[in-house]
Parts: sequence; structure tokens; C-alpha cells
Amino acid sequence: MGRARPWIEAFAPATVSNLGPGFDCLGLAVRTVGDTVRARVGEQPGVVLSAVEGDGGKLPREIDRNTASVAAAWLLERHAPGQGVELQLTKGLPLGSGLGSSGASACAAAVAVDAALALSLPEAVLVEAARHAEGVACGTPHPDNVAPCVVGGIVLIPALEPLRLISLPVPDDLWLALYTPGCSVATADARAVLPSRVSLPQTVTQAARLGLLVHALHEGDLALLGEAVADDIVEPARAGLIPGYLDAKTACLEAGALACSISGAGPTTFALTDDEGRARALMDILEETYTGAGVPGRGLVDRVGPGARVTSPPLH
Ligand code: HSE
Repeated sequence: MGRARPWIEAFAPATVSNLGPGFDCLGLAVRTVGDTVRARVGEQPGVVLSAVEGDGGKLPREIDRNTASVAAAWLLERHAPGQGVELQLTKGLPLGSGLGSSGASACAAAVAVDAALALSLPEAVLVEAARHAEGVACGTPHPDNVAPCVVGGIVLIPALEPLRLISLPVPDDLWLALYTPGCSVATADARAVLPSRVSLPQTVTQAARLGLLVHALHEGDLALLGEAVADDIVEPARAGLIPGYLDAKTACLEAGALACSISGAGPTTFALTDDEGRARALMDILEETYTGAGVPGRGLVDRVGPGARVTSPPLH
């Protein structure tokens, strides 16, 4: 009789990265939506990806191209050589949405493999595994989705070599309206439109806003936070990739949103506010504007939430 190979299940949340001035170095995890990966000890060394669901058949199934299996293989090579895992991925997040979809699959896999093999690796190692997978999927191993996805909350990544993760305070009354219009933007394409150089005044403004954002979070001052979530470098370059974006942003700000910007590489648009009812009203505005622009999609009202975690009962 073969040995029992129970499944471990892990959930990893959607993330909103950049948050205005924090391009590639700041992001937050949301509470409600994300990807799920099941992992169990493999019958042979290496990674087997035995099922992928919820992606409409669009994601690669090859071990060296799917972010879940890439993250798992990275972990095995460095922290469990000679061991094997079998994975099953269930996508809860739309692809190319700006919600950290590729990163969530990688983080869920890293957490599930860590638990299935009883590795107890530090969060930073799980982030590195997922970051490596981001590099394979999007061309750049940016950390600003996978760091909050693993750690939860709002995370600043001030350095990559070695990786540093700083958890920032989350104001109690922070609410997000998120709307994913019905068009998709590949992260690589959204990065291709970015300027290769920025001016000194733009750099100073961006740095000042990021400093203000961190200060606002420490103070729990949502008005200051709204002031800080602005971006004259990345957002203007990408706005044209999202039909209706500028109208949606204008409508949200006129309706009293604290801030409105592009989530990650887009097209998901987020608006910040301090009340659930206001967040629902902002989501309706986003829905109306994007529907009017011919790209109806799906909206969500959410809060900042915890990071990736095991969701199945303990094995022992
Ligand atoms: N910081 C990255 C970008 C996030 O904006 O390109 C991509 O999800």
C-alpha cells in the first residue's frame, strides 16, 4: 500500500499594488477574493501540476511557465532538494486584471508547499519564491503584489537585495471600491509603455508623496492618505490602455473618493474611502462609467486583509 498523501489547501488574496506613488515597492492585500492551491507530497521528486481550474484554459500548464509550479519548483530546489509535490490550482482571480492574479497563484503554491512538506520557511523566502515566479510570468520579479499577498496588510518593500518587508499600519476605517473592467492588460504590455527616464522634479514629487503616504498610514489620517495616493509618472502612461479610466477617476473624485487610481498594471481601478456605504456608491459609479465606455466588468467592495494562509485542517 502506498503512503497516505493528504492534501493541504492554501488561499492567497488579491492585491492592489503601486497605490499611487509606490510603483514596484508598495501594495496591500484585500480580504475576500483570491486563488487557491492544493498541495500534497509527490510520488516522485519535482513538481506535478495535476489540475488547473477557473482560468478558462488560458494559463500555461507547463511546470516552468505556470506561476504556481514555478514558485513550488524554486522552493524545492533550494529548501527541499530531492522531494516532490503535486499541485492543483483553482483560480479565483481574473487574469491580466491588475489584482495580482499571477502572484496570488504563486503565493498560494508557496504556502501550500511549505505546509505540505512541513518546511516552516520564513515569509521572506515564500515571497522570494513567488517573486521568482512573477519574473517568469511578467518579465520582472516585482515584489509589490507577492509581498502583501504573503504577509497581508499594507507592505512596503524598501530593498530587494536582501529583500526587506515593512508592514505599515492599516487605518481601521479604510474601505476600497474595486472595479475590474471587461478588458485585460498584460503586465508586460503595461510596463512597456512606461517612460525609461523621469525628470528630477517628477522624482522629487513622487518621493514626497510616498513619504506622505507612509506618514498618513502611521497617523491613521485618511484625508492625508488620499492626498498622497497620486502618481504623475506611471498612471498617465497607462491611462490610455484602459477605456474610460480617466472618466471613471474624475467621477469618483467628484463623488468624494479620497483617491482613485490604477491597481497594479490595471485595468482594475480602485477608489479609497472611509465608509462601506460610500465604497458601494463608488463601485456603482465605476460600474456605470465603465459600462458607458463599453467595458462592463465586475466590482467589489473590500477592506485590507490578511496574507496567504493554509485553509485546510491541520494534518496532525
Ligand atoms: N508594480 C507592478 C506594475 C505591478 O505596476 O507593473 C504589476 O502587477
